[in-house]
Amino acid sequence: MADNLNAFMENQEVATVDANKKIRIGIIGCGWIAASHLHSYLKQPDVEIVAGCDLIPGKAEAFFKKWGVEGAKCYNSDEEMIADQANLQLDAVSVCTYNRQHAPCAIHALNAGIHVLLEKPFTVTTEEAVEVLRAEKASGKVLSIGFQPRCDANMIMVRDILRSGVLGKIYYVQTGGGRRRGIPTPFGTTFIEDKTAGLGALGDIGCYSLDVVMNGLGYPKPLTVTGYKSAFFGTDPNYSNYVATGHPEYAKLFQVDDFAAGFVRLEGDIILDFRIAWAMNINTPGDTIVLGTKGGLRIPSTDCWNGTIGGDLVLYHEVAGKQVETVIPQIFPKAGEPTNFDKKIRTFLDACKNGTEAPVPASQILYNQAILDYICKSSECGHELVVEIPEI
Ligand SMILES: NC(=O)c1ccc[n+]([C@@H]2O[C@H](COP(=O)([O-])OP(=O)(O)OC[C@H]3O[C@@H](n4cnc5c(N)ncnc54)[C@H](O)[C@@H]3O)[C@@H](O)[C@H]2O)c1
Repeated sequence: MADNLNAFMENQEVATVDANKKIRIGIIGCGWIAASHLHSYLKQPDVEIVAGCDLIPGKAEAFFKKWGVEGAKCYNSDEEMIADQANLQLDAVSVCTYNRQHAPCAIHALNAGIHVLLEKPFTVTTEEAVEVLRAEKASGKVLSIGFQPRCDANMIMVRDILRSGVLGKIYYVQTGGGRRRGIPTPFGTTFIEDKTAGLGALGDIGCYSLDVVMNGLGYPKPLTVTGYKSAFFGTDPNYSNYVATGHPEYAKLFQVDDFAAGFVRLEGDIILDFRIAWAMNINTPGDTIVLGTKGGLRIPSTDCWNGTIGGDLVLYHEVAGKQVETVIPQIFPKAGEPTNFDKKIRTFLDACKNGTEAPVPASQILYNQAILDYICKSSECGHELVVEIPEI
């Protein structure tokens, strides 16, 4: 993981924020998650919110008005906003659009020499991820993926255990998560229509489950994938949440996955067994487990998977020939500590200011994206596929 995120998370030496050197920020897509970005930026002493844009006319204006931000210029698309870069002099943008617009918006900004914090999932397809990485490489700018669970103390503990060698040779990982009823439609249909989302549970919460383990394993390359996906709940007009919210028509609009599973061979002889659900008839598809020759780790799941853990970690190992379990207590935030979201924003800003590596480098998340994409591709063709990732 990048040095600046490590230092920040582990309360080691962190550069003092120079409030005189303001970073000029633009927000692309002024919907639900954009508000979290805005609130976290507004807590930083060295940020100026300069501009925002949304495809829906008037939405960017209403967004800044709602949150009391004065003077931010508003535009009707990322292209329109970036075309005004000579006036705006943006240092960085947050790309807060729905998934299908992640790649084009990130590429437009990078091509204009602007640092990018790109919301998850990285993209929809592997090919798009490669195009974004090429733009990043050509620009020399920071491109970080918005995985705030990376900033969670429990996830840092998981990463450190996996990297410590205490498990011996790791050969099998089971991960995933889910919700019994949790298709995200509280603010409309951008998560469930193919033209906006492209991926369902896979992209929304599957990317987090993969990152928990892939980051600890050092992001080994995926070699082959057998995938499955379904949409039994999302396409059902009697799905209980549609009934409860009075939106049976959402069933007709639902075109993504609400459940997916994958069997992935990773470089280094590691098997990854993965499943994810927005809706299912059980509380959880199981804990994350990591098996090694010297030990095993259990990472308890939650009933509403969003990248946090559901209890104490348990390490299964042997001491003096005896089978023992070591409980590693769940870590809870200290009073007044910045939220994981605030840390995601701060570490991105620090990377932009200091010219250091992105806190969540897109070059790592390329493999995460390839797994999600190949689960879809394999599901559609009905057999295992060899993962092919073009050179950047
Ligand atoms: N990190 C997190 O915790 C978290 C939480 C929720 C959502 N997300 C991610 O954030 C993204 C957005 O989710 P949301 O719930 O805010 O969606 P949303 O539909 O509420 O908002 C997206 C907005 O982007 C706008 N938009 C799309 N393309 C645009 C473009 N080219 N230029 C300008 N505006 C454009 C849309 O008009 C819309 O208003 C998704 O990819 C989602 O996965 C992340």
